[in-house]
Amino acid sequence: LIHPVILCGGGGTRLWPRSRPERPKPFLHLLGERTLFQQTLDRVADGNRFALPTIVAGESHMPLIREQAGDTPDIHLIAEPMGRNTAPAIALAAHRLPEEAIMLVCPSDHFIADTAAFRDAVESAADLASEGYLVSLGITPDRPETGYGYIKRGAALAGGFAVERFVEKPDQPTAERFLADGGYSWNGGIFLFSAARLLGELSRHRPEMAELVERAAAHGNEATRIFRPEAASFAAIEGESIDYALMEPTDRAAMVPVSMGWSDIGNWQALADARGGRSQGPCDLLDARNVHVDSDGPRVSVVGLSDVIVVVDGGEVLVTSAAGAQKVGKLPGAMGE
Ligand code: GDD
Ligand code: MG
Repeated sequence: LIHPVILCGGGGTRLWPRSRPERPKPFLHLLGERTLFQQTLDRVADGNRFALPTIVAGESHMPLIREQAGDTPDIHLIAEPMGRNTAPAIALAAHRLPEEAIMLVCPSDHFIADTAAFRDAVESAADLASEGYLVSLGITPDRPETGYGYIKRGAALAGGFAVERFVEKPDQPTAERFLADGGYSWNGGIFLFSAARLLGELSRHRPEMAELVERAAAHGNEATRIFRPEAASFAAIEGESIDYALMEPTDRAAMVPVSMGWSDIGNWQALADARGGRSQGPCDLLDARNVHVDSDGPRVSVVGLSDVIVVVDGGEVLVTSAAGAQKVGKLPGAMGE
């Protein structure tokens, strides 16, 4: 069985005003009936292939997770006393699993249209993970996005490729060069490895972090099905993502390419695209081209504009150009001011 580990950490401030600190992106109904977090659970809800998932999240989100995971009551929960980014979160989960367990690390805030393609890729990746690789799922890039990791494909392996180079969040000219050169995939942020290999590589490349996580896990405690690491050791960790901490330095990375209708719904324009442009809530559009409306009540009327997104939620109104959507997280409202 493959052991899913679901990460719920980031704020998703670029989807303000729908996304708020008390109800961030993974827990919103953005696309379809189920929230992104629930869709993540659904993708791994097959008892023949997957063990019960482990959810790693901040203490304050435990009630929300319990509520949304209603039909999977036996999930394992790990509550972080504070955010230290993804490498410590994943390492904590590894300590709670058997050494030989194959982990499937999933972000909780992505949209994947094709579950069958996802599961096929996970199957191939799990085989490579059993051979000792740190495997990520690779997405075919279509623009020089600087918010992603880039993977240079190396030698072919069964079901995938060795990774020649992993570059997290390159600057714009570098991303453009990667696209022009070809042979690169985006890192989809979905990883598979054995718990032992993950912890072994962490000791090798980030020994201080490895030691602090080990201590936090060893001296933690479990109550009402929630594991809490020992706070002082966890607090002492210097936060770092798995991409920088392990995927860049390791020489044991592999990649499985997959085409599954993936989007990390990074901003309102990406969400509008994933919705096929269909607005939500009451609105009237006249002589409007490429206008997306999302309203929780008030009717929104737009005349003679193009490339505009209007969001009304909880008494807040956002109006942005398509191009400005990337900067929404910098607004005072989005930063909680
Ligand atoms: N539990 C926990 N604790 N989860 C966290 C924490 C944390 O401290 N920090 C982030 N997460 C969760 C986020 O909620 C998200 O589901 C996932 O881990 C990835 O974190 P992001 O902050 O969204 O990372 P990113 O989008 O900048 O970059 C990653 O994803 C890209 C693809 O979407 C990297 O893996 C990139 O290489 C990749 O291309
Ligand atoms: Mg992300």
